[in-house]
Amino acid sequence: MEVFDVIKEAFEETFGAADTQKYFSPGRVNLIGEHTDYNGGNVFPCAISLGTYALVAPRKDNMTRIYSMNMADKGVIEFKMNGLKYNRAYDWANYVAGTIATFEQAGHTATNGFDIVIYGTLPAGAGLSSSASLEVLTAVILNENFNFGLDMVEMVKLSQKAENEFVGMNCGIMDQFAVGMGKKDCAILLDCNTLKYRYSPIKLDDCAIVITNTNKPHSLVTSAYNERRQQCEHALKKVQAVKPELKAWGELTNEEFDKLAENISSPIERLRARHAVRENQRTLEAVAALENNDLEKFGQLMHDSHVSLRDDYDVTGIELDTLAELAWGVEGCIGSRMTGAGFGGSTVSIVKNSAIDEFKAKLEEGYTKKIGYAPSFYVADISQSTHKI
Ligand code: GLA
Repeated sequence: MEVFDVIKEAFEETFGAADTQKYFSPGRVNLIGEHTDYNGGNVFPCAISLGTYALVAPRKDNMTRIYSMNMADKGVIEFKMNGLKYNRAYDWANYVAGTIATFEQAGHTATNGFDIVIYGTLPAGAGLSSSASLEVLTAVILNENFNFGLDMVEMVKLSQKAENEFVGMNCGIMDQFAVGMGKKDCAILLDCNTLKYRYSPIKLDDCAIVITNTNKPHSLVTSAYNERRQQCEHALKKVQAVKPELKAWGELTNEEFDKLAENISSPIERLRARHAVRENQRTLEAVAALENNDLEKFGQLMHDSHVSLRDDYDVTGIELDTLAELAWGVEGCIGSRMTGAGFGGSTVSIVKNSAIDEFKAKLEEGYTKKIGYAPSFYVADISQSTHKI
């Protein structure tokens, strides 16, 4: 049965028959460039075919009723379309409500509500941006139905704002950008300082992108994430005292940073900033390597990225470290690193097709032995961005 047939059944059971619109919004995996977006650096993510499907029927009044087949225990969540505020009772639907509220604040006011059924293939809490997927999905539904005429980058920015201001996660722009601007079989090299971007075709020949989910139960990502961001901002202020023209860590080379580092009095903040600078340079090097078909170098830089996220940025943890270390030991694994915010979530690895079975077996065995439960694996297809079907 096609995915929308299954969603249609759930829709009719929940809301009754109606004329519906179909949408798909992808998740994302970041190949390299982690915790660089809010530091004015480069990122290199792609949209993936795991994502969020939605059937949507406009209503005559301004109520929205929304139901997720993945969160059946939360039931149907309802709200009015205007003057929305964060509400714990909305649970996962705060990402939807937040985007609607942010649109309204920007002058794009919805004039009716919707009945919506959502079905997601992204594992929640896996660091694959199920939240950005929902936000950009909501943005596209609003833009389509009310002819706001917004372009995708504007919708991406509003979606990020919803997450920052409505949900309180002080994220950068990478996730929403990857979801909204992704292109089939390409990664996006995005300079988060200027929002200049270009597509880089991903031709891995005899290799695949394998995502491995730690399945770590949900941790307090938001507070730890916001703290890292604050540490980087605080360190930047220290350096701006001697170099006022510096606007973001992404502007510095490694050598320039090393000369300025002594101005950051806190050793922890110095490490955080060092990661931001080096990871940004590493990202540019990695894209050049990939475009030169030097996959081995790309893999080495993925490894270095993980080590920096572990030692300087302290966002990995035993689960991600265990997966990465096991992956580095598999012949046929070209590179592996944590992806996304960290503190759990997933690793991304480039693995020779012929080695995928061995890769899965070794990681499953080693991880389960050490951590006590199994990881999950997904071979990623690089997908296009959020769209109406
Ligand atoms: C989360 C955030 C992104 C980015 C990554 C880390 O996914 O939403 O903006 O900062 O973490 O690279």
